[in-house]
Amino acid sequence: MNDFLKIAIEIAREAGAILREGFDRPKKITYKGEVDLVTESDRRSEELVVTRLNKHFPDHGIVAEEGARTAARTKYCWHVDPLDGTTNFAHGYPCFAVSIGLVEEGEPIVGVVFNPVANELFTAVRGEGAYLNENRIHVSPVEKLAHSLVATGFPTHLRKKSSNMEYYWQFTLRTHGVRRDGSAALDLCSVACGRFDAYWEFGLSSWDTAAGVLLVKEAGGMVTDLAGQPYRLGGPSLIASNGHIHAELREVAAGIAERVAKDE
Ligand code: IPD
Ligand code: CA
Ligand code: CA
Repeated sequence: MNDFLKIAIEIAREAGAILREGFDRPKKITYKGEVDLVTESDRRSEELVVTRLNKHFPDHGIVAEEGARTAARTKYCWHVDPLDGTTNFAHGYPCFAVSIGLVEEGEPIVGVVFNPVANELFTAVRGEGAYLNENRIHVSPVEKLAHSLVATGFPTHLRKKSSNMEYYWQFTLRTHGVRRDGSAALDLCSVACGRFDAYWEFGLSSWDTAAGVLLVKEAGGMVTDLAGQPYRLGGPSLIASNGHIHAELREVAAGIAERVAKDE
């Protein structure tokens, strides 16, 4: 197995155990913003992941959500969300994960997302396919937006000025439904394994998506920005889909964007 992947899996499982243990205890919540929560478990998980990555790959860069930064002395950089789905975690809703992505010159090459409650480990290496608990996964075969189940999210920092409610409403009218599950990393994995046919969101960070976008691509899906350009980590918008409904999604999204711009 790819050495980077092997180590990332080991670390994700260890961090997952920290999250699983913290999930059963009373949570100590602090606030990074008005509704941007952070718990002891976010910090403990990040400390473990960063310590382990530094030990195994002292020359690699690290960008982790709760603040850890290591400058890269090579072309490799790890993008880490130690707990994606903190709001779910804090409220006892069992939909959260640790997400670890290795990026080489802007392109994700290894992705690991682990949900310790469901015991689901999603993994991918560029060019080698995507896996859930070691079984190969593929995006769904759904061909029409009208037959699809899609997902989105609402980042807390855009809470007051996001037009995403308009997208949510319009896609609700054109699909079987829109889910808002609260973990971008798991939403992307759900597209990769065909549970969702597509997912879009605005304002995500590199640690939310580095692993998940690779999972989608390696499962046969497509990831772009709203305008159909290649998705750039940390870019302002992301659409991930099974590929079949991508054009239709983008067409609807473009219409909404135009209307929203006129109303502003
Ligand atoms: C958040 C989750 C959520 C998404 C937000 C993210 P966090 O990450 O992924 O689903 O809608 O944009 O910030 O704060 O739980 O790590
Ligand atoms: Ca996140
Ligand atoms: Ca997080």
